[in-house]
Amino acid sequence: MTSTQVKDSVNAADRLMQFASGFVISSALNAVTRLRVADLLANGPLTAAELAGATSTSPDALNRVMRVLAGVGVFAQPSSEKYALNSVSTLLRSDAPQSLRDTVEFFCDSLHFECYKDMLPSITDGRTASEHIWNENVFEVFARNPEAQTRFDNAMTNMTGSAAAAVAEAYDFSGVGTLVDVAGGHGLLLSTLLQRNPNMKGILFDRPHVVTGAQKRINALQLSERCRTVGGDFFKSVPSGDAIIMKHIIHDWSDEQALAILKNCRASLKADEGTLLLVEMLLPTDDQPHFSKVLDIEMLILPGGRERTSDQYRDLLHKAGFKLYRLIPTESPYVVIEAR
Ligand SMILES: C[S@@+](CC[C@H](N)C(=O)[O-])C[C@H]1O[C@@H](n2cnc3c(N)ncnc32)[C@H](O)[C@@H]1O
Repeated sequence: MTSTQVKDSVNAADRLMQFASGFVISSALNAVTRLRVADLLANGPLTAAELAGATSTSPDALNRVMRVLAGVGVFAQPSSEKYALNSVSTLLRSDAPQSLRDTVEFFCDSLHFECYKDMLPSITDGRTASEHIWNENVFEVFARNPEAQTRFDNAMTNMTGSAAAAVAEAYDFSGVGTLVDVAGGHGLLLSTLLQRNPNMKGILFDRPHVVTGAQKRINALQLSERCRTVGGDFFKSVPSGDAIIMKHIIHDWSDEQALAILKNCRASLKADEGTLLLVEMLLPTDDQPHFSKVLDIEMLILPGGRERTSDQYRDLLHKAGFKLYRLIPTESPYVVIEAR
């Protein structure tokens, strides 16, 4: 073996072991996020002992956790036991403009560890881990477990944080009378769009126990005159409007289930030329890293959906009686798929 070959194989081994031990980083991230360590570092670097004092944890154990996270670039380590925020951990701050705190807390939670402990059953028969473990769809699992439901709803709102303004910028809603946000969660996207478009009315639709969580935001933003909430099941019907928007919904479901939802949307649009807007990530067809490829596995393991390429969306929309009209990029990882 030449020295270059030895170096390559050491690098390859390092990379492989980094991937194989990825759960260590996920679990460490989960712990420091729950301990709000990033908020504690907001005013400057602290030692592990100071952080441990503020979080009632073991100074030695917390130092080791911070050290491994600093080693992969999550925190800065200005001296041997002192830690500071960098651009990555700033995103764990509760008050950061693009905070991902709630998203990280959800992605690294115990439900995920349970679901991901063995992917083989899902790879073997294509059924979700949720069905294998609990014999039901993950949305039913959330509904039975208020803590998991809250973590999920907060994560969705958190992820929508960066997308809402980008969608408002990218798409012209000025001609829309009533916009229905189908499965709009806690209403961050719809309320942002209503604030930016003062003549538009909105209907926020989701499952009854979810939609109640949106009322506080609607009232606080003084949108209750223009926005009402409706609880229901999109496999049965969706409320009627001039345009429908669905963010991160079609990707949750198989082609067959997605078609059922899209057909209900088509039936409820007021005019034949009514507009359907899907806000989704597009799966690239090359071999480059892209978060949609990770999200695609999340869809396989949790709800049973999939990420799709633009051609797959075109095909699905066509089968539901829509024509894909435009793909509108946004200043976020999402595109707006406009169909009529
Ligand atoms: C991935 S989240 C997206 C939420 C929101 N659109 C966003 O992007 O923040 C999926 C949403 O679908 C809702 N949902 C799941 N099953 C549903 C059903 N049968 N009828 C209506 N909504 C449903 C969930 O409650 C959840 O809010």
